[in-house]
Amino acid sequence: MSNQSRPRPVIMAGERVFLSHVFAEDAPLLAQWFADLELTALLGLQGRSFTLEQEQQWIAANNADRDDQRAFAIVLRDGEQLIGTCSLFHINLLHGIAGPGIAIGNEAMWGCGYGREAVQLLVEYGFRYLNLYSIHLWVHGFNERAYRSYLRAGFREAGRLRGATLLDGRRYDRILMELTRNDQAD
Ligand SMILES: CC(C)(COP(=O)(O)OP(=O)(O)OC[C@H]1O[C@@H](n2cnc3c(N)ncnc32)[C@H](O)[C@@H]1OP(=O)(O)O)[C@@H](O)C(=O)NCCC(=O)NCCS
Repeated sequence: MSNQSRPRPVIMAGERVFLSHVFAEDAPLLAQWFADLELTALLGLQGRSFTLEQEQQWIAANNADRDDQRAFAIVLRDGEQLIGTCSLFHINLLHGIAGPGIAIGNEAMWGCGYGREAVQLLVEYGFRYLNLYSIHLWVHGFNERAYRSYLRAGFREAGRLRGATLLDGRRYDRILMELTRNDQAD
């Protein structure tokens, strides 16, 4: 099912998903996804619930000409359905580093390998077109699906802060994951 009014350009093509632009008209769907407290907790944004206006601003900010951030729509090739977004944050072109972020909005689509594929496309974009050297992020220990998906995408664990994440009265490790251009060449 298509959920947008204009065709999505293919920016990075994968087998089952491709990365495209996030359109202004995607804001209502994003607002539906990012209002969900379970989703925002998985993203490390515990207790946050985002409004339509915030999503509109986020999309506009991403589409502005800036060097420190790139966001993409994750689109299923089959039916061109928008299923999530992924981004490179804190892009630092001086050192060639950035942090990835990803959310597949529809829970029913979790665990199908779409996240792994989207992250691989995002990484390929960062290494090939932004000349990045290191892409790294912190994953919260309660988010095993994300941890495993990043491992599958080629990341490795670079370290962990024991008990540095607190959620609903329980402490979890905060895990640093990284992928470098050299790893990709292996
Ligand atoms: C994290 C996310 C992008 C991963 O994408 P995905 O398409 O769901 O994940 P994949 O199918 O690529 O990989 C999931 C892995 O976790 C495993 N998995 C699935 N369900 C799981 C569960 N309930 N607990 C633990 N592991 C689970 C899968 O078996 C797979 O690992 P494997 O390939 O070694 O078998 C997606 O789940 C998502 O958007 N989650 C909510 C937001 C989020 O957590 N973002 C990341 C913040 S760091």
